[in-house]
Amino acid sequence: MFNTALDELTDYPFDRLRALLDGLTPPAGMEPLVMSLGEPQHAPPELIAQTVATHANEWGKYPPVAGSADLLDAISDWLKRRYQLPDGMIDPSRHVCAVSGTREALYMAGDIAISRTKRGQTPAVLIPNPFYQVYVGATVMSGAEPVYMSATADTGFLPDFDAVDPAVLERTALAFLCSPANPQGMAADRAYLEHIVGLARKYDFVLAMDECYAEIYDSVAPTGIMEACAAMGGGLSNVLAFHSLSKRSSAPGLRSGFVAGDAKLIQLLKRLRNYGGATIPPPLAAAAAALWRDETHVDANRALYREKFDRADQIIGRRFGYYHPDGGFYLWLDVGDSEQATQTLWTDAGVKVIPGAYLARPGADGVNPGQRYIRIALVHDPETVADGLHRVVDALA
Ligand SMILES: Cc1ncc(COP(=O)(O)O)c(C=O)c1O
Repeated sequence: MFNTALDELTDYPFDRLRALLDGLTPPAGMEPLVMSLGEPQHAPPELIAQTVATHANEWGKYPPVAGSADLLDAISDWLKRRYQLPDGMIDPSRHVCAVSGTREALYMAGDIAISRTKRGQTPAVLIPNPFYQVYVGATVMSGAEPVYMSATADTGFLPDFDAVDPAVLERTALAFLCSPANPQGMAADRAYLEHIVGLARKYDFVLAMDECYAEIYDSVAPTGIMEACAAMGGGLSNVLAFHSLSKRSSAPGLRSGFVAGDAKLIQLLKRLRNYGGATIPPPLAAAAAALWRDETHVDANRALYREKFDRADQIIGRRFGYYHPDGGFYLWLDVGDSEQATQTLWTDAGVKVIPGAYLARPGADGVNPGQRYIRIALVHDPETVADGLHRVVDALA
């Protein structure tokens, strides 16, 4: 009567957080502060409203499935600039598909990468642990087996693909990787990325590279998978990169992003989207194109995050295993017991965070790599963030 695979998707982190805090209240007279959600609170660029108004005559059109030609051009030009790609490496009509946010595209990666079997066996999907929940949704709904790769302090907060059994790699259909990583903020370097691309090609799996935090960094722009592909000769086979305007442009409500990579996979993604994808309304596609062409608002956005991380350096100092992440906008703090700390922060400091345990699963060794951690999103203005971090230190120290 219904798809029982959905029974495996009942522990969404924010539902668990609601249950954990149910019946608990923040201190009287203290303004509650939500730092659990990765939803940028910076003002979205005015460019969005202006461009949508200019294109208001286009609401009456059905949008093309891969995004407008202008948006695909803007995206290809941005990729080329951001990653110094050689001329001709990205053909907007073959290597790019615009999507309504990377969440839906990451989910669809499962649909295009996973067949019912691989080499006669149940397909495996490699997932960094902790991870963005959609990776598991894509895996489970395609009938594949999730294989969690711990990304802890011991592995430099990135998964160690070499620790995966070659027999599992043989049946791997898809691997997710996030850099800079949510929640740990670690960025993979080029050698690491080239190695993973090599594995994807050797074992013939799709590498879904989630780079939606690629534009939120301090001073060094994180390396992208496209740079690794360029260094390896410029081919894009087995590789898909996922980018978003949600973080880059503080516009999560615009629901706009893109997938770029292997021409065959992009063709399959477009085919799938013909049958069940959400297309991008033309005025919103125009706004997205304007945002990819503009760097001024992105510089200003980055400056705000820089200020917040500088404050975090001072306020948190050496407590809770704090480190200044390579990118993204999260703190990943070792507090000993993530659920208990989350409850204490809510009842004693009025600060809502999310337990790391909810963002990860127990690995093969039975250990949940998020168990000791909380994730704090630095998405508000710098003053509010500083206030929140002082409250965290006071409540947990
Ligand atoms: C790691 C990661 N990937 C993808 C997304 C999805 O972003 P969007 O669908 O807004 O592009 C998020 C959102 O928080 C995320 O944290």
